[in-house]
Amino acid sequence: MSDPVHPKARAFGAVADEYERARPDYPAEAVAHVVDALGLGSGKVVADLGAGTGKLTRLLVPTGAEIHAVEPVDGMRAELERRVPGVTAHADSAEALPFADAGLDGATVAQAVHWFGPRWVDEISRALRPGAAVAIVYNLRDLTQPLNRAISEARERVADGAPSYASGRWREPLEASPVLAHDGFTGFPWSYDRTHAEVLDQVLSLAPISALGPHDQHEILTEIAAVLAGEPDPVALRCTTEVTLFRRR
Ligand SMILES: C[S@@+](CC[C@H](N)C(=O)[O-])C[C@H]1O[C@@H](n2cnc3c(N)ncnc32)[C@H](O)[C@@H]1O
Repeated sequence: MSDPVHPKARAFGAVADEYERARPDYPAEAVAHVVDALGLGSGKVVADLGAGTGKLTRLLVPTGAEIHAVEPVDGMRAELERRVPGVTAHADSAEALPFADAGLDGATVAQAVHWFGPRWVDEISRALRPGAAVAIVYNLRDLTQPLNRAISEARERVADGAPSYASGRWREPLEASPVLAHDGFTGFPWSYDRTHAEVLDQVLSLAPISALGPHDQHEILTEIAAVLAGEPDPVALRCTTEVTLFRRR
């Protein structure tokens, strides 16, 4: 079988450090909403798909649920294993989940759904027990903020066909599913502080930019540094955490 992981997503492996340092976490209200919608607690089994360095995974630990992190890229999974003890990490992909039929009481996908091939919807439909939900979580940049706009524009310019959450294409297989039903959407606006150096690390951690050569990366970093020059250090980055729920019928 060909590698289900997009070549540009493989590039995350080289920037796990920058990713962990500079990408946003998730606000407590959004996490509480996910925990409540999934009914997580002691005795429940949940999987975090495309778990990366475990930015969402670690926030589920206090629920007491049995947590499985699915992350196929070695560099990202190694960082998760270092930072989030007590969860089981799997080197699998979302398109071939290592769980029994109806073995999960819930699932989360943070900042990753656009990288998955449509087959992931069959897999999560199989692995969720009837009545269980998958929460799709995404920190969407507030594009009214010039710095955020500059970062998004730089990513789009070099995306070269790489999938994006903003395109909405990830919704198509979910909405076509006879097994899953849309079960709500909530947005949580918030902001987080990053130093200028961390903002530049965040830019480098964007998959299409991490896949570029050093010369092209330098050009983009110079461009973002020029926007940063007019901002306080640290700077507050505004975003909305979107939580979309699909529930197994
Ligand atoms: C932007 S990161 C998100 C990481 C983490 N969930 C977070 O909230 O920070 C996207 C992750 O999805 C993973 N990924 C890409 N394609 C995947 C696939 N087909 N199956 C599972 N994970 C995948 C990447 O390796 C990467 O770690």
